[in-house]
Amino acid sequence: MSAGKKRLVVASNRGPVSFARDESGRPVTRRGAGGLVTAGSVALARTGGLWIAAAMSEEDRANAGRTLEVGTAGAGFHVRLLPLDPSDYERFYDGVSNRVLWFLHHSLWDVPRAPTFEGLADAWRGYERVNQAFAEALEEELRLADGRDAVTLVQDYHLALVPSLLRGRSPEAPIVHFSHIPFAGPTEMRILPQPVRESLLAGMLGADVVGFQAPSWAENFLLCCRGLPDARVDLRRRLVRWKDRDVRVRVYPISIDPAALREEAATEAAAEEEREILQWIGDRRLLVRVDRAELSKNILRGFLAYECFLEANPEWLGRIGFLALLNPSRQHLAEYRAYAEEAAELAGRINRRFRREDWEPIQLSLKDDYPRALAAYRLYDVLLVNPVFDGMNLVAKEGPVLNGRDGVLVLSENAGAFAELGRHALAVNPFDVGATAAAIATALKMGPAERRRRARALRRAVTRNPVEAWAGAQIEDLGRIIR
Ligand code: F6P
Repeated sequence: MSAGKKRLVVASNRGPVSFARDESGRPVTRRGAGGLVTAGSVALARTGGLWIAAAMSEEDRANAGRTLEVGTAGAGFHVRLLPLDPSDYERFYDGVSNRVLWFLHHSLWDVPRAPTFEGLADAWRGYERVNQAFAEALEEELRLADGRDAVTLVQDYHLALVPSLLRGRSPEAPIVHFSHIPFAGPTEMRILPQPVRESLLAGMLGADVVGFQAPSWAENFLLCCRGLPDARVDLRRRLVRWKDRDVRVRVYPISIDPAALREEAATEAAAEEEREILQWIGDRRLLVRVDRAELSKNILRGFLAYECFLEANPEWLGRIGFLALLNPSRQHLAEYRAYAEEAAELAGRINRRFRREDWEPIQLSLKDDYPRALAAYRLYDVLLVNPVFDGMNLVAKEGPVLNGRDGVLVLSENAGAFAELGRHALAVNPFDVGATAAAIATALKMGPAERRRRARALRRAVTRNPVEAWAGAQIEDLGRIIR
């Protein structure tokens, strides 16, 4: 089965386009950001096909139902936004996806206190109904494809129930479920109430192939499946026997499109930001982080590590600047908002402690500023990527591709990207603030030859895995399985 011959249908919560209004109130479409949108769009642009996504906002709902065309002629695809009941959508997106599954799979709960699962039963019903709506839309699409083979790529924890719901309606459909985030191990999985836990696993096992970003997450999934009554798990072959079918568990590390990224970095907007950063940093060294302002990114320990570094290495006071570019995420939820506020307070405290008349230790920006992120990638001496757990982390790939200073990557052992890039980075246990401070010091002291060698190796490791390989490998694996 090759990608060229198949009609692809991608399903995800956040789609490749969304609707909004510009300052004068006119409706505008916006291209979605992030790795899923890039890799999914590349796959669909090659084969044509359809992307089904949730209508997430009022504007999206006003435009839902009709099919939109995205991309250029010959490399385009269609997008359909699903109109969903707003209160069900809230239960699905906030009640289950953002408040429960995100916290579970990234180990974010302060377990002596949380979770308590008040309201989960009700939220879960909304999650089921939205998954059902996706399964119905997919089945309709498969029926319309009428005889032409279609491959369904279902994305992420939002849509964990879709594979089994679709399998019930369309028993022969080739289905992949792919998780962009980590997967909890069996001990943490037991935090979830048993029916929810079993539904999630059984839901994903409706697929032919269950894909993950990194080997650790695939292993965790297999270990969790061992707790499912009636599932037979072969760890060595990464296979689960479930309801008389074999389900393969595979790893497909997502990548980036270096050429497209370089083009974006060559715009005047990015050049302007570069000039501005250079003015701020002067002849000092530059430490950078680029993240969504979100709990799994471990922003607080990153600031504490920098504080610890300045304390232990006073010779660096006034000779380094930390540019922290944080893109607000899910700020309508108190947990996420409080975390971003805490990060801003901590940066403020560190600045008050160490600042000098002509020097501020941290410049924190809490806004969506892509051109500035691209400029920061080009200029960093050290890039700090220290998530507590992360499915992949594309900052760790984008930075080294653009960087022009042989910058050093300090990388969490718990980021999926570590499997591909860890050897060329400075590894940190993201919980260990002292070790992270020491890694920053090591990076700054590293000689030019070693910096160059590591920077080149990082670039090679990223470009070795082209962005189109992600969907291509999934489709090929399906082809081998389904005859
Ligand atoms: O990468 C994981 C992911 O959940 C994507 O699925 C999602 O698009 C992204 O993080 C951002 O999250 P959200 O869509 O909730 O803003």
